[in-house]
Amino acid sequence: MVRISEIPSWLKLVEHHSKISKLNLNEIFGSNRIEKLIFEEENILVDFSKNHITEETLELLVSLAKELQLEKKIEMMFAGERINFTESRPALHIALRNLSNYPIKVDGVNVMPKVNAVLLKMKLFTESIQDGTWCGFDGERITDIVHIGIGGSDLGPRLICDALEEYRNKNLKVHFVSNVDGLDIHATLKCLNPKTTLFIIASKSFTTPETLINANTAKEWFLKHTGANENAIAKHFVAISTNEEACFKFGIPKENMFTFWDWVGGRFSLWSSIGLVISLYLGFDNFTKLLAGAHKIDTHFRSTTFEKNLPILLALLTIWYNNFWNYLTYAIIPYDLRLRLLPDYLQQLIMESNGKRINSEGKVIDYCSSPIVWGRIGTDSQHSFFQLLHQGTQIVPLIFVGVAKPSHNLSHHHDVLIANMIAQSEALMCGKSSNEVYDELSQRNLTREEIEKILPHKIFPGNRPSTTIFLRELNPETLGSLLAIFEHKVFVEGTIWDINPFDQWGVELGKELAKKVLNQIEAGKVDENQNLSTQKLLLYYLKNKENL
Ligand code: F6P
Repeated sequence: MVRISEIPSWLKLVEHHSKISKLNLNEIFGSNRIEKLIFEEENILVDFSKNHITEETLELLVSLAKELQLEKKIEMMFAGERINFTESRPALHIALRNLSNYPIKVDGVNVMPKVNAVLLKMKLFTESIQDGTWCGFDGERITDIVHIGIGGSDLGPRLICDALEEYRNKNLKVHFVSNVDGLDIHATLKCLNPKTTLFIIASKSFTTPETLINANTAKEWFLKHTGANENAIAKHFVAISTNEEACFKFGIPKENMFTFWDWVGGRFSLWSSIGLVISLYLGFDNFTKLLAGAHKIDTHFRSTTFEKNLPILLALLTIWYNNFWNYLTYAIIPYDLRLRLLPDYLQQLIMESNGKRINSEGKVIDYCSSPIVWGRIGTDSQHSFFQLLHQGTQIVPLIFVGVAKPSHNLSHHHDVLIANMIAQSEALMCGKSSNEVYDELSQRNLTREEIEKILPHKIFPGNRPSTTIFLRELNPETLGSLLAIFEHKVFVEGTIWDINPFDQWGVELGKELAKKVLNQIEAGKVDENQNLSTQKLLLYYLKNKENL
């Protein structure tokens, strides 16, 4: 097969880059950019205009996507083909939110009846917790839900419950436990009443050590503090998994299991029964609205021309900076506290999906795949790392995410917050020239020498790109749409880089070695046939752990 970096549209982009990289963003900024590069949908506006792109750039990037058969690959995904080619599975998260209920087939069988049956089970369970028909073992109502899971079985539900807290069921509190650090579960359990607590054990595989260790600790704690027998577990533990047998072994009865399927990737699973905690906390209607928001984007993604297709444009922009400008990181900065967990969630979605180096033919690729994604809430981040973004030597494209309607009455606060977001994108692009700095300093009572000394430090080079995603308001539907946009962006990028965004073999080796290391810790004996650094670290730990 031809190498991607040698196909005509890639080569044209290389040539185009050498021309456009000489131009300053401010120079290419004409009024027609607003029409061409700002997209306004029903509830969302995406401003691409402050990026190093012109109409020609977009045409070339779209040609690249076409040349690499993106259209066909999108259809393959929606048709349930085995696009997860290393695990020979479809990637059908779109079926989980297919509220139009059109048939989606895997091996000729429509999966929608199964999807709908699980949704119905989630709805009934949610109602029974809410109206109190489901109680604890001695008849008390459930007041607290503890969701135990990690990675894709944690980050999505955690983000949504946090972001949409204003929609919550006031009679329930939710807690998330993911880390195997005992502090996590200890801090959670110490303020709970076991008789009114429901544990959700969320694990696609039901073999993830962190989750199973936490689940076992929760079970022991429950039995110890209630004095109840094992039968009581049925009223306090439910499981979400594709592995029924393992759930049963853990002690969770079949009727307390909410299933999903191997064609749902962990980090794409919040729309499945993994989202049960969302339904319990926010209500099933709001969970449905979340699905509806994502479904809207699925339709947009599948049917909108590439030139106006939001996930595709965002993906192409990432490819443009990553592969042609050599900008190897980008940051996501939400200007809304409700979205404070968005960077965490996106780090897994993006980097676990596309942090790969082997293509569909099993060859090492000769171009960069996923950039490093990072970020933090604004305005706090302005007072930590924005210095580097404005005046450092590395260029980091940014994605700002803002919400026009605040969730509180302190409108002045919101005005200031949003003013900062808009101002940052402007400052990054426009910068401050030496003339401007000179004029400013001249107003002060400084000597020429003093001015010359300080002047270079006060220059902002500008010409630094950013994209702004603005939501009209944050509600279950718009949040569903936002996350689905990023999911499809990830798929498009993986498709263009010819890697598989749906596996995650890269997390396995560390897990295997952790088992070996743990065996030595438990035996109190260090294996002398391993590298000296590991031996030294183990000895240090064994010597000092009791002193804690
Ligand atoms: O980090 C690896 C990973 O496999 C993720 O992809 C997944 O979301 C997470 O672990 C948890 O896995 P599980 O849901 O099987 O417990």
